[in-house]
Amino acid sequence: MTRLLLLGENVRKVLLGAVLALALLLLSAVAVMRLGIMPVTADGTHSSLEARIMPMVLHASIARHASGETNPGPLNEDNLKSGVGTYKAMCARCHSTPEGNASVYGQSFYPPAPQLPKGMAQYTDAQLFWLIKHGIRNTGMPAWGGMLSDEEIWQIVSLLENSQDLPPLVEAEWNEHKNKTGP
Ligand code: HEC
Repeated sequence: MTRLLLLGENVRKVLLGAVLALALLLLSAVAVMRLGIMPVTADGTHSSLEARIMPMVLHASIARHASGETNPGPLNEDNLKSGVGTYKAMCARCHSTPEGNASVYGQSFYPPAPQLPKGMAQYTDAQLFWLIKHGIRNTGMPAWGGMLSDEEIWQIVSLLENSQDLPPLVEAEWNEHKNKTGP
């Protein structure tokens, strides 16, 4: 009986300790946020923790939400050229073009806008479509679903996913005026 009581007492102590530790942790987290210690500028250096965690969170969320759809648009020169047109009008100012200089504007975001397609992680067609349509929260990457049709987004997906193997005319058009990207 006494042993049982002792055991109960120990469990109570451990539980109380855990609750106190948790409360302390929460309080410190609130203090760190309220005291203005967290860096919020876009020109700060990337902490290695952030640089490792955020891409992991992003890729896991994209993999969870994107459908298994394949690109409904046929892969032909017309569609690729339309993709180039939309890309140059909407994306190049931040992501530059494959042969162009990295965009100064794009580099000024935190995290910076990677030069596409070479700076991009590996995505399936459906994942890339979902990412472009919905954008990336708390970064400079807009949700294009409100500005571009699904067809236009799929055309960009075709362009980015087939960038290694483009018809010469499409490639030339993509890189034309390469020095004009960025402000
Ligand atoms: C105003 C600047 C801006 C514009 C315009 C813009 N983006 Fe982005 N984009 C960003 C930034 C910043 C990131 C980086 C976000 C991150 O790393 O979490 C990004 C990330 C991306 C990524 C993810 C890269 C990866 O490796 O995960 C893709 C793909 C992308 N953008 C495609 C596009 C396309 C396609 C367009 C045009 C329809 C576009 N972006 C227009 C700023 C922009």
